[in-house]
Amino acid sequence: MRVKEEGPEIEIREAELEDLPHVFALGERLFTADLWPTLYRTWDEYEVVELFATDGDTCLVAEMENKVVGFALGTMIEKRRSSWTYGYLLWLGVDPGVSRRGVGARLVRRITDVFIQNGARMLLVDTDAENERAIEFFKAQGFGNLSEHVYLTKNLTRDPGYAKQRRRSVPPSNGHPRKTRQPTPIPPGIPMEEEDNVDQ
Ligand SMILES: CC(C)(COP(=O)(O)OP(=O)(O)OC[C@H]1O[C@@H](n2cnc3c(N)ncnc32)[C@H](O)[C@@H]1OP(=O)(O)O)[C@@H](O)C(=O)NCCC(=O)NCCS
Repeated sequence: MRVKEEGPEIEIREAELEDLPHVFALGERLFTADLWPTLYRTWDEYEVVELFATDGDTCLVAEMENKVVGFALGTMIEKRRSSWTYGYLLWLGVDPGVSRRGVGARLVRRITDVFIQNGARMLLVDTDAENERAIEFFKAQGFGNLSEHVYLTKNLTRDPGYAKQRRRSVPPSNGHPRKTRQPTPIPPGIPMEEEDNVDQ
């Protein structure tokens, strides 16, 4: 694939602590509710800070003229009963002001290298089925085996247990609001059996 570089130089590098507010702000502009209506991960400050704290080497930024214009945030995951280790690219974003200049491709290339160095044998991404731009982008980066996942929801406020719990209204033991975000889920549809048969 052709990677273009026009205008000021853009550097891809590991994220640093002071980049985080800029990464978060850019993500706020990109990850809008219409693109991610039911995503099981949420773009919030915790997401960015926790990923940086736990997976610093797979948090990359693209910098142009001292400004963060893109990021790739990933993590390594291992699936139980599988000898495979995955590099999971959780969040990828490029400032629309520099789109189609190869920044996304360079971020993916660099994070792929880091994943490989960390022992990954497969790279995984996910996005909303309606996000055609991202799907086309990922296809252009060599991703395939597209599989769709269906989300269903149930309104728990109509569940008898919900009203009961509300009446009890137990405060959290430490007085702080409970943090509800879950650890990295194993995404659905990860190819497993077939690849596990591949000679290692
Ligand atoms: C998807 C995204 C990361 C692409 O970043 P980018 O820097 O503009 O992409 P690149 O310039 O590296 O594009 C590389 C190739 O991907 C494909 N591509 C990129 N954007 C595309 C689009 N809108 N339509 C079709 N193909 C596209 C093209 O093949 C392109 O090569 P070309 O420009 O030579 O034709 C960026 O648009 C973005 O941040 N989107 C919003 C957030 C998002 O959806 N993130 C992904 C899920 S977490």
